[in-house]
Amino acid sequence: MSVSAALKPASPGVPMRVLHVAAEVFPLVKTGGLADVVAALPVAQAQQGADVRLLLPGYPAVIESVQGAHPVIDIGACFGALRVRLLLGRMPGTALPVYVIDAPYLYRRAGGPYQAPDGDEWPDNLQRFALLGWVAAHLAADDADPAWVPDIVHAHDWHAAMACAFVAEHLPTRAASVFTVHNLAFQGLFPMHDWSLLGLASRLMSPAGLEFHGQLSFMKAGLKFADHITTVSPNYAREIATHEFGCGLDGVIRGRGAAVSGILNGIDDVVWNPATDPAIAQRFDAERLEGKAACRRALQAELGLQPDNDAMLMVVVSRLTSQKGIDLLLAAMPELMAMGVQLAVQGTGDPALEAAFRMAEQAHKGRVQVHIGYDEARAHRLIAGADMIAVPSRFEPCGLTQLYGLRYGTVPLVRQVGGLADTVVDADEAALREGRATGFGFDAATARALAQTAQRAVALKRQAELWRGLMRQGMGQALSWAQPARAYLALYADVLVQRRA
Ligand code: ADP
Ligand code: GLC
Repeated sequence: MSVSAALKPASPGVPMRVLHVAAEVFPLVKTGGLADVVAALPVAQAQQGADVRLLLPGYPAVIESVQGAHPVIDIGACFGALRVRLLLGRMPGTALPVYVIDAPYLYRRAGGPYQAPDGDEWPDNLQRFALLGWVAAHLAADDADPAWVPDIVHAHDWHAAMACAFVAEHLPTRAASVFTVHNLAFQGLFPMHDWSLLGLASRLMSPAGLEFHGQLSFMKAGLKFADHITTVSPNYAREIATHEFGCGLDGVIRGRGAAVSGILNGIDDVVWNPATDPAIAQRFDAERLEGKAACRRALQAELGLQPDNDAMLMVVVSRLTSQKGIDLLLAAMPELMAMGVQLAVQGTGDPALEAAFRMAEQAHKGRVQVHIGYDEARAHRLIAGADMIAVPSRFEPCGLTQLYGLRYGTVPLVRQVGGLADTVVDADEAALREGRATGFGFDAATARALAQTAQRAVALKRQAELWRGLMRQGMGQALSWAQPARAYLALYADVLVQRRA
């Protein structure tokens, strides 16, 4: 289906209206790649002619940053909040129209979007994210903002998933819903006794509805009720239909058959562009790689690493959790050090992993540098200055840092799983010969497999011409959001045709 067809679903000449519903958006609120996607995909779709808006919870950072916000409707009391209003403003930077749910009792508090400062989940997350879905459904049902009614409600991850149940079951609407699974491991599970807070029919309080092993699952609201489900890579779409990756929901996913598909994420090529990046020591591109060498020297100096030209400078920018397979790097540390790798790690997460990396830094001063923390500009400097970026995940729906690596000539070393397998071509002999190789991949989730693959990379780096070829092949990949945005628009058009048939 052509994009122009996709833009005319209802009446000729009227662009398709798309409402993205999400719990985070870069740079206002970010815990991971979801925020990057929510910042970039709607803008790319708007550039292709769609009429796109975003719906966000009114966390303090959102209320403070959204520009020109004005009230659209007074929603009154719901989900425990006495005063709920819907505001409409614009995203700073892109001017994308954004609806903000102003519910001070539920959202205006210091801490993360899902967790209190002490790391515990907010005790009222059910109400906080049910409200997000509820408002999305009211926008679709045309009683929240009759001036703008979406054709498509696109909900991201469990936080927004209730929108799909409310659209399907509660409110009459012509809108179709699309649900994107960014990470099936986070499901939004709540005690069943909170069911009555949702105001849904009791027949849905069963395994055929939202019940998941005696709990109430927001993820299931998306998986069961969305008109279509996408994941953020084609490989992950296949994986989540299996017992190994299905997190107990593979049966539900298989049950949706062809209504599940994968669209590979893009990257924001304005934010992640080595030719214009204001955060890095010297700008560069595939034709001016001397700039990258300057970034590498600056990074070694900044991190206190030995100014070694021959070392393989490997970085990790990641949540430090078991998903990311970061423990494999720790276990492979002796071999990595023996082969002359320098390792710089930036991340936060599991306290045991944080402590283990701190100890590795102490043990290998000048060769291992660890920064426990979250820092966007520093992440750009790490990715620009390194030779390799390691992403040894146990599972990975898409993964963005290997894509940032490709764009910056920083060769990815990945486990071949999920979106990592879809985005990195291993430098085996055939791929090198045919000029297709972009990185290194390994299969087994073991330190040995990781170390053996790192050894192949170290050997190839000694062949400077081949290594530069690998870098340039990665830098030449089309990674922008243009293609995925087009794919989502075509999908919406198909889904609308089916829904309105
Ligand atoms: P996930 O969403 O599973 O964490 P992704 O690779 O999709 O993984 O996205 C992670 C995003 O978070 C990337 O933009 C990455 O650069 C960023 N990120 C992760 N950890 C840090 C950190 N400690 N400092 C800065 N950015 C980080
Ligand atoms: C999730 C996944 C990650 C993906 C990101 C954006 O956080 O863990 O693999 O890249 O969402 O879709």
